[in-house]
Amino acid sequence: MGRAFVYVILGGGVAAGYAALEFTKKGVSPGELCIISDETVPPYERPALSKGYLLPEAPARLPSFHTCVGANEERLTPKWYKEHGIELILGTRVKSVDVRRKTLLTAVGETISYKILIIATGARALKLEEFGVSGSDAENVCYLRDLADANRVVDVMQSCASGNAVVIGGGYIGMECAASLVTNRINVTMVFPEVHCMARLFTPKIASYYEGYYNSKGVRFVKGTVLSSFEIDPIGKITAVNLRDGSQLPADMVVVGIGIRPNTSLFEGQLTLEKGGIKVNGRMQTSNTSVYAVGDVAAFPVKLFGETRRLEHVDSARKTAKHAVAAIMEPEKTDEFDYLPFFYSRVFTFSWQFYGDNAGEVVHFGDYSGNTIGAYWVSKGHLVGSFLEGGTKEEYEALAKTTRLKPAIDDITELERQGLGFALTV
Ligand code: FDA
Ligand code: NAD
Repeated sequence: MGRAFVYVILGGGVAAGYAALEFTKKGVSPGELCIISDETVPPYERPALSKGYLLPEAPARLPSFHTCVGANEERLTPKWYKEHGIELILGTRVKSVDVRRKTLLTAVGETISYKILIIATGARALKLEEFGVSGSDAENVCYLRDLADANRVVDVMQSCASGNAVVIGGGYIGMECAASLVTNRINVTMVFPEVHCMARLFTPKIASYYEGYYNSKGVRFVKGTVLSSFEIDPIGKITAVNLRDGSQLPADMVVVGIGIRPNTSLFEGQLTLEKGGIKVNGRMQTSNTSVYAVGDVAAFPVKLFGETRRLEHVDSARKTAKHAVAAIMEPEKTDEFDYLPFFYSRVFTFSWQFYGDNAGEVVHFGDYSGNTIGAYWVSKGHLVGSFLEGGTKEEYEALAKTTRLKPAIDDITELERQGLGFALTV
């Protein structure tokens, strides 16, 4: 028993949705393409889950945020897939893949064959158990990767009105969830091992700007330690979090955001892996020419920095997906992928954007006691990265353009003096 497709997208997240739209733009025929996903809904804009989805008033709900609304493109509803003859095989986990035979085996025992496979399996949230702490299955412990997780966060949040939440992890999930919890009038304590929040990207000065605001909203930071265990009541609910520094925090709910692991396991031993992901070339093609990889799971060459990177952000998921489809459908017209890394976040009324690489010496600019703050990163005499909070569309465009040009910087003090003006005049 089995079905055959020309193109199969494995995974039904952000990258899958953008790939599907691009396939239709490039002229895929009805019946040629399918998406297999273990989620029960068609691709959606995952960033909504930690933002609009958690709002106390008028929260975002599907179908409003199906891809590709996040890039101001068409919203792909189940009807859209049907009209375009794209098969959605949802609620279906793929349990093995044979890239030599070009087949996938689903958990219900169906074999699906392909001519071209696009791997868009994304990543899974790391569990506390992987760090030696048990209790993740308690009913008031939440992770946040998919819609089911987001529904759980909403339910748990509603059942602990005015209660205490402990947020484990000071990265993107931690910061965005803490802001959403506060907006829902829940008291938040954040716990993370680093000396400041968002340690992968922020400088101490940038972190301190945001932490100050979180503090003013009542958020407490417990830094430089991790949790060691939970106190669990007889009905299996967490009541407190024990930290390695010996202290204890009361908890009516716990949100965990301690990083991700790319979903590569189906391909280990079959495809070349790098940086924890599946290695691809500038056409998003893996070590097997019939297999492409995109999104969080792909380690791709970032031409601008002459390095292979695996990025965990929505813009790269969208663009790697589009590029893979272009390389498949119009190989002669498609150049090597040339990507400027772009990350962003929105919390409370803040909104920041980052472009490029956060390597080298940092030059801060703007008003760190006001609303517009920024930074440049200068490495080997060139501007390689830029950050701006509260910018206008034109300012962000200028920042992106400048960062891509990697201008030579002879005088750091002069760059600091010019601040945002430097990007606006390049
Ligand atoms: P994605 O995780 O979206 O999709 C993977 C798909 O594969 C899922 O549908 C999964 O179920 C499926 N799958 C995996 N294994 C399978 C198997 N064996 N069989 C069947 N299906 C399988 N980024 C950003 O730049 N700005 C932001 O504000 C945010 N905000 C944000 C919030 C939250 C809550 C999360 C979790 C993430 C973000 N991100 C973000 C990151 C961004 O969402 C992420 O980079 C993209 O979703 C990656 O897209 P992919 O399609 O690669 O994976
Ligand atoms: P992350 O990598 O951003 O942060 C992980 C955090 O976990 C670290 O900052 C650290 O503080 C903490 N940590 C690590 N080990 C720990 C331990 N043992 N105990 C306690 N804390 C520990 O990952 P995340 O916040 O979990 O986000 C998951 C994924 O979702 C990432 O890929 C991220 O890029 C993506 N995401 C992106 C955005 C955005 O771009 N705006 C928003 C949400 C999620």
